[in-house]
Amino acid sequence: MTEAAFNAKTFIQKQKPNFTPKLGLILGSGLSEIAASLEDVTTISYGDIPGFIQTTISGHAGVLSLGYLNGVPTVCLQGRKHYYEGFNNEIIKTYIRTLKLLGVEILFLTNAAGSLHQDVPAGSLMMITDHINFQGQNPLIGSNDEAFGPRFFGMEDAYDPKLRDMLATVAKDLELHLAQGVYISALGPMFETPAEIRAFRLLGADAVGMSTVPEVIVARHCGLRVVAVSAITNLAAGMNKEALTHEDTLYQGAKAAKVMQKLIFGFTQELS
Ligand code: HPA
Repeated sequence: MTEAAFNAKTFIQKQKPNFTPKLGLILGSGLSEIAASLEDVTTISYGDIPGFIQTTISGHAGVLSLGYLNGVPTVCLQGRKHYYEGFNNEIIKTYIRTLKLLGVEILFLTNAAGSLHQDVPAGSLMMITDHINFQGQNPLIGSNDEAFGPRFFGMEDAYDPKLRDMLATVAKDLELHLAQGVYISALGPMFETPAEIRAFRLLGADAVGMSTVPEVIVARHCGLRVVAVSAITNLAAGMNKEALTHEDTLYQGAKAAKVMQKLIFGFTQELS
């Protein structure tokens, strides 16, 4: 597993020599467009990277791009693996640890999520302040690789407080509304039942999705600083008259992507 990340890193570095990304960006469903603002870009298909697996979900492009965002050397993953696709834990470790080995210090994750609040409707952005892992899975199950991090580690402040403050200030300066809240990760692939959403609300969740948490766990294990934002694509199950579809999430994701792009751009300006 360590070997897979090292092989991927070596392969990627050959495609763009002397490039050390400081920022890692993971783009969720419908958010791939953001990668188009990278400058001096090199794009590699996941299928060509040893240990990476071509993604199959529509809205997840399955390419890795290296380039500059506002002058910040950035590696961007368009497309991720979800537990519901039946992948094993190795692949998610490979993705995140490859970023670490490439030199990434800050990981900015995005996702599509359902909102548990009527006043945070589709099209809103929510900065994740904390999460609840409700997937019944953990990517770190198995032997621990001490080269990346300790067996036991804390998850307080998993979402870096300084970076959160910075992002909130960026949003304020840009006059973008940025909600804040707790993200709960469900396993999927189906959306939730209304009863599950009521239960999640009682547990303290503000938004629900099927990704991000495994990546954050691996990222924190290896010491990456994390910041994450959900593009709210829908009100969660039972809160709407119409039933949810993946097409809706893509459509609303594309709308929220425009605002997300501004936010990420503002964030990189602060970093540079
Ligand atoms: N539930 C789970 N995942 C999601 C949702 C949702 O309502 N919307 C977008 N991703």
